[in-house]
Amino acid sequence: MPALAVARFERRLCRRNPVLGGGRKERAVRRATTVGRGAKPPAECDEVPLRGATLRGVVGTLLEVRNLQTHFATRGGVVRAVDGVSWDVREGETVALVGESGCGKSVSALSIMRLVAAPAGRIVGGQILFKGRDLLRLGEEEMRRVRGREIGMVFQEPMTSLNPVLNIGRQLTEGLEIHLKLSPADARRRAEELLAMVGISDPGRRLRQYPHQFSGGMRQRMMIAMALACNPSLVLADEPTTALDVTIQAQILELMKDLSRRLGVAMLIITHNLGVVARYADRVNVMYAGRIVERATAREVYGRPRHPYTLGLLRSVPRLDEPRRARLTPIEGQPPDLTRLPPGCAFAPRCAFCVERCTREAPPLAEVDAGGHVSACWEAARLERVGEPVR
Ligand SMILES: Nc1ncnc2c1ncn2[C@@H]1O[C@H](COP(=O)(O)OP(=O)(O)OP(=O)(O)O)[C@@H](O)[C@H]1O
Ligand code: SF4
Ligand SMILES: [Mg+2]
Repeated sequence: MPALAVARFERRLCRRNPVLGGGRKERAVRRATTVGRGAKPPAECDEVPLRGATLRGVVGTLLEVRNLQTHFATRGGVVRAVDGVSWDVREGETVALVGESGCGKSVSALSIMRLVAAPAGRIVGGQILFKGRDLLRLGEEEMRRVRGREIGMVFQEPMTSLNPVLNIGRQLTEGLEIHLKLSPADARRRAEELLAMVGISDPGRRLRQYPHQFSGGMRQRMMIAMALACNPSLVLADEPTTALDVTIQAQILELMKDLSRRLGVAMLIITHNLGVVARYADRVNVMYAGRIVERATAREVYGRPRHPYTLGLLRSVPRLDEPRRARLTPIEGQPPDLTRLPPGCAFAPRCAFCVERCTREAPPLAEVDAGGHVSACWEAARLERVGEPVR
């Protein structure tokens, strides 16, 4: 990636972005974030050194999802895709949302962007506080400004999210002209910088091409460029690498991590890949059947899982440090039908730790350890004794 393009882009961010480069306090926060993570901030951001400040000690909550409920009305009944979840993302932090297919990860992200497919899909309750404002109360015009400008999104399937009949240049410049009010010439220059920043060579030529002329990895890079184009403070990345081969996956993830650190952008990474979680996330939310069942730092989730579902997920992935003949332990059974959730714990039919109470009462998300480690399991204490650490 050309260093010059990155440096120029960063300098512009510092000048324009109200989070990165607005007031004295924000610049101090950004400096603390960047320095705290070992990267040197660009010269124009150099101001007010905050000695000894850590990321956790300084930054505040950027996004807070409170008791969010998103349902779909279908012929078979009401699908409770997101069933009362609460979680948050702090400034500059990378948070993961992890769980099996169909547990409500994408619908959670689409709810934040207010892009749930209506009329079947509806957000029926909760709050989505972004920088203190409830996104669910904004008018459509205000919400359009938030999308792209303040929150970027990398969608699960890049080919269906890109417009096949518009060239790459137009798809990038449109948002820049609308949200940042750049002239067509400036938007074009910026679009070239963005493509260079995400590692696409010969950006001038590439801007004239169409999505079908890009490889899968390039389309994913293009999605990341689009998500970052207007200097958002948060990017929602829904399975950003699932369709790619492993070497490209690693490149894209490293790129996202690098950009997140350099630009101070917070990320929500949605994935079912626990390798991604371990390497890239600060904190992890484990989701099952539309609810959060465990939340902790990535280190805690791997080292001391306190929910049988998390333990099952960890035991069902191969480990390089174990002999090849070591058996994986899949989670038996299927996730429940979200139109007919059982009265007790939704994981009960698949759970080796299940006791009688589990089938009657749904366990609340409760603190199991200091440092914000929470688990929704009646047997979380037993799990600490029985469940061997998963490294
Ligand atoms: N438009 C829709 N109409 C009806 N049900 C829907 C609709 N969109 C999603 N759902 C249901 O909502 C639930 C959650 O879907 P979601 O797309 O969030 O899953 P996911 O966790 O992202 O899965 P994956 O890992 O496969 O992407 C699923 O049961 C799905 O069938
Ligand atoms: S509450 Fe009961 S069924 Fe649910 S995960 Fe815990 S032990 Fe298993
Ligand atoms: Mg999904």
